[in-house]
Amino acid sequence: MEVVIVPDAAAGGELIAEAMAGLLRRTPDAVLGVATGSTPLPIYQALTAKVRSGAVDISRARIAQLDEYVGLPADHPESYRSVLRREVLEPLGIAPDAFMGPDGTAEDVPGACAAYERALAEAGGVDLQLLGIGTDGHIGFNEPCSSLASRTRIKTLTEQTRIDNARFFDGDIAQVPHHVITQGIGTILEARHLVLLATGEGKADAVAATVEGPVAAVCPASALQLHPHATVVVDEAAAAKLK
Ligand code: F6R
Repeated sequence: MEVVIVPDAAAGGELIAEAMAGLLRRTPDAVLGVATGSTPLPIYQALTAKVRSGAVDISRARIAQLDEYVGLPADHPESYRSVLRREVLEPLGIAPDAFMGPDGTAEDVPGACAAYERALAEAGGVDLQLLGIGTDGHIGFNEPCSSLASRTRIKTLTEQTRIDNARFFDGDIAQVPHHVITQGIGTILEARHLVLLATGEGKADAVAATVEGPVAAVCPASALQLHPHATVVVDEAAAAKLK
């Protein structure tokens, strides 16, 4: 695992966007795995600037979603499909048919999970997977004690994660869904390059457990230690508890 400490979130965004641009120059039809939440926004802003300036061509790239709420209508502003349309697809000019994600509105949720696993395999797998990290060490929505071999499936969010995400729902935890579909940890580990960005002091404990703790399901992100090409980019605040 490679750990890179950057001064702030903007520097982390720029560094990772440049890595994505390098991948796209080598592999124009790369599959980019994208995360939602606040952390990756500086990455998307920096990548958008590169695309708009002509520094990189993203027209042949494909985009794969990491996780999705169950039960929110697809056009709900906080469904992850809507967030990604707003923050990634539209700014980068990516066509809807180059996007794949799990169907959080499906009546047959296990069927939707299996269908998404098939879609990822048929796309040839994910070339570069962006990850954030929860304050409890989750990646995707694999909450603590998720199996390190897990595949895409339905999960129940912890109370802490619902509290953390209430800010996207007018601060009202009652509006935060209880369930999600998430790529499993085993699914995530199949991406060819994992890039986790963590910023802010609230992530410092989770980052220390990820990088310096044992590989253990109690900290799902510690599974990155098992991956042959994992990069953890942290700002100084998130790095504060590293030895
Ligand atoms: C979202 C996701 C989550 C977030 C994590 C951190 O797609 O996979 O693991 O990355 O909850 O969220 P933020 O970045 O909002 O602190």
